[in-house]
Amino acid sequence: MSIVEYDNQAFLCDEGKTVLDVLLENGQDIPYSCKMGVCVACVMRVIEGQVSADSQAGLRETLVAQGHFLPCVCQPGADLKVARIDEQDLFSPAVVLDIDYLPPDVCRIYLQPATPLYYRAGQFVNLRREDGLVRSYSLASVPSQDQRLEFHVKKFDRGQMSSWIVDDLKPGHHMSVQGPFGNCYYRPGRAEQNMLLIGTGTGLAPLIGIARDALASGHRGQIWLYHGSRLVDGLYGDDPLRVMEQSHGNFHYVACVSGGTDRHGFRSGRADDLAFDDRTDLQDWRIFLCGYAKMVYGAKTRAGDAGANSTNIYSDPYELKDLRRQPRS
Ligand SMILES: Cc1cc2nc3c(=O)[nH]c(=O)nc-3n(C[C@H](O)[C@H](O)[C@H](O)COP(=O)(O)OP(=O)(O)OC[C@H]3O[C@@H](n4cnc5c(N)ncnc54)[C@H](O)[C@@H]3O)c2cc1C
Ligand code: FES
Repeated sequence: MSIVEYDNQAFLCDEGKTVLDVLLENGQDIPYSCKMGVCVACVMRVIEGQVSADSQAGLRETLVAQGHFLPCVCQPGADLKVARIDEQDLFSPAVVLDIDYLPPDVCRIYLQPATPLYYRAGQFVNLRREDGLVRSYSLASVPSQDQRLEFHVKKFDRGQMSSWIVDDLKPGHHMSVQGPFGNCYYRPGRAEQNMLLIGTGTGLAPLIGIARDALASGHRGQIWLYHGSRLVDGLYGDDPLRVMEQSHGNFHYVACVSGGTDRHGFRSGRADDLAFDDRTDLQDWRIFLCGYAKMVYGAKTRAGDAGANSTNIYSDPYELKDLRRQPRS
């Protein structure tokens, strides 16, 4: 048992509990979303004591040096004193410039941050609504080519942020941006290395950025992008990706449809199944996996089984905030 001190109060922390669990159980208003160390929405600062290394994994060195950590994956081994972060340090204002609606349930939003955001194509940021609601969204834009930040948002039934973005957000509205985060981005070098990109739904957003960035950086290896959707109208990137395929001999786009009856002109099946059926030897390939969390975790294992080195596998599972009475299994 240890003690977590926060806001001049001390809370007992049983073994196996995280700092976030303890603070939430004691009625503290701490923002969070994935509770898995992925989205960074919960980030705090340690004032006294030692936090676990995995609660700082993936944070920028400057943030780690300032004591930032993720309380949702931090089980304290000894007493800790922690604090919220001054939000001005992390969030910067941005204005919505434009929105494209891609029926039935996806929209592309374009934001202009008040101060430049230094990011890599494929990373994600946290977007905050004026009332404080925060969710993570991946960048589809490429910093060297695009002036605006581009995001693809899929509307979830009863989803607080995504429904609001698709139904109510308008050009001229303001949001705040925190980040960038994540290590799912193209690294220049090894230009001959083949790349396999697999995404479902709006998992396409970071993959488009990564592919465009690689091509603009002169990548010469083959780049295979598999995009999966249950229905044909979910393949919202089809037209631009086919144009991109025609312009670059080493870029290949595979559109996959797993449900419905209309699959004419598309590969039939799940994107991950088709990708791993097509390529059984992934030794020395670079792999990028984004979207539906269950697909991403499964595909990571399958990529390893096909010979990919774990240091060559980059992923962003789109973990959802669990709002159900029974947690998702
Ligand atoms: C690293 C990362 C990157 C991401 N990138 C993207 C991206 O580029 N594009 C994108 O579209 N998404 C992305 N996501 C997902 C995104 O962050 C949000 O989780 C998503 O938009 C849903 O948020 P929401 O507020 O609309 O839904 P929430 O309100 O958080 O609801 C989450 C889920 O719970 C369900 N739900 C809501 N209320 C209840 C209830 N009372 N009982 C049972 N179930 C309920 C909803 O239907 C939904 O399925 C990313 C996530 C992560 C972690
Ligand atoms: S990283 Fe802690 S809630 Fe997502």
